[in-house]
Amino acid sequence: MERISILGFIVAILYFITTELACNGYTHIGNNIQSEQETLIDFKSGLKDPNNRLSSWKGSNYCYWQGITCEKDTGIVISIDLHNPYPRENVYENWSSMNLSGEIRPSLTKLKSLKYLDLSFNSFKGMPIPQFFGSLKNLLYLNLSGAEFSGTIPSNFGNLSNLQYLDLSSEILSYDDFEYFNDLSIGNIEWMASLVSLKYLGMDYVNLSSVGSEWVEVLNKLPILTELHLDGCSLFGSIPSPSFVNFTSLLVISINSNQFISMFPEWLLNVSSLGSIDISYNQLHGRIPLGLGELPNLQYLYLFGNYLEGNISQLLRKSWKKIEFLNLGGNELHGKFFS
Ligand SMILES: *[C@@H]1O[C@H](CO)[C@@H](O)[C@H](O)[C@H]1NC(C)=O
Ligand SMILES: *[C@@H]1O[C@H](CO)[C@@H](O)[C@H](O)[C@H]1NC(C)=O
Ligand SMILES: *[C@@H]1O[C@H](CO)[C@@H](O)[C@H](O)[C@H]1NC(C)=O
Ligand SMILES: *[C@@H]1O[C@H](CO)[C@@H](O)[C@H](O)[C@H]1NC(C)=O
Ligand SMILES: *[C@@H]1O[C@H](CO)[C@@H](O)[C@H](O)[C@H]1NC(C)=O
Ligand SMILES: *[C@@H]1O[C@H](CO)[C@@H](O)[C@H](O)[C@H]1NC(C)=O
Ligand SMILES: *[C@@H]1O[C@H](CO)[C@@H](O)[C@H](O)[C@H]1NC(C)=O
Ligand SMILES: *[C@@H]1O[C@H](CO)[C@@H](O)[C@H](O)[C@H]1NC(C)=O
Repeated sequence: MERISILGFIVAILYFITTELACNGYTHIGNNIQSEQETLIDFKSGLKDPNNRLSSWKGSNYCYWQGITCEKDTGIVISIDLHNPYPRENVYENWSSMNLSGEIRPSLTKLKSLKYLDLSFNSFKGMPIPQFFGSLKNLLYLNLSGAEFSGTIPSNFGNLSNLQYLDLSSEILSYDDFEYFNDLSIGNIEWMASLVSLKYLGMDYVNLSSVGSEWVEVLNKLPILTELHLDGCSLFGSIPSPSFVNFTSLLVISINSNQFISMFPEWLLNVSSLGSIDISYNQLHGRIPLGLGELPNLQYLYLFGNYLEGNISQLLRKSWKKIEFLNLGGNELHGKFFS
């Protein structure tokens, strides 16, 4: 009995020593460490946290605070992940119990090495996206999806040249209990051409109506873009062809529920990497290009709800090598399925 409790005591001491060392054993950069901690405390003090989600944010072991990750040997904060783990559409009480809101303090920019920031699905209702996010130059990942920010996306985000994942999406959902807030827009899109490391761009339900058809030419400059999500962005008119198709890594393009009045964008046939195309719920017209059936990697094609024409049996005779999901319904196709 006694041995066990002595052992327990030793283990507890060892634990204490190691966790203390893990955060505070860096005397050579002691001042940095103190300022990382102060910055986090200041960041916390701006937030409203009625359910005490951030109760672990006290004491000196900030590398162990909930949602914080430090660089292994230096105690420098590299990640803040405070996304709300409960989707709004499931249990409202659960979502609400993790709801953070309030103000985001500019002192955040003192975390010079921050690489990962996820505030998705919290409730910064009606607040603009802080402009100073644009000076977090080391960010690789920024997720503000469903966080209910409003206003225009700051164009100084163009300085985030290391950013690989940018998710600003919302979803239009309606509930009896509350209204899902969505009021983000973009002034011009030219600055996006500077996000040269971008792999993932999610802007579903961001109002892009002021961009016109320039989005194609601008996003075509992003050399390693793999996923593009622009559903319900109030994009309209034609989908022009870029002068030269640069999107050689594009795997997913989802631009459903816009107001495109356009022929099918034939230039997508030049993007042989494409695995998933969703242009449903628009006003595409003209023929469905037979070449779609020859895209070597296409698994998912959703074109429901347009005015596209074509001969279904001719289309189905193409090879469709990898196709798993094909929905061409709600169009003006003719011909027989089996002929
Ligand atoms: C909601 O929270 C309750 C209590 O914590 C939990 O039992 C339940 O699994 C949660 N529901 C969902 C959908 O996560
Ligand atoms: C989230 O929390 C903030 C402040 O605590 C509150 O104003 C807001 O109404 C909450 N949102 C919901 C939908 O519960
Ligand atoms: C952003 O956060 C949402 C909600 O937490 C999540 O569903 C989505 O996958 C995230 N986006 C990226 C690019 O990781
Ligand atoms: C980048 O930041 C500098 C200064 O912080 C600013 O003057 C410049 O306009 C920014 N660039 C973009 C593309 O926003
Ligand atoms: C998008 O913005 C335009 C111009 O500001 C506005 O007229 C339009 O109503 C907005 N669309 C939506 C769906 O909010
Ligand atoms: C293609 O991508 C390269 C590298 O990002 C860029 O310099 C070039 O302008 C792009 N071409 C077009 C036509 O957008
Ligand atoms: C698509 O590829 C063909 C050759 O395979 C080329 O002639 C054409 O210019 C390309 N189109 C665009 C828009 O890059
Ligand atoms: C559709 O294509 C098939 C195969 O090429 C052809 O036999 C058939 O006549 C076409 N049907 C119509 C209505 O054009």
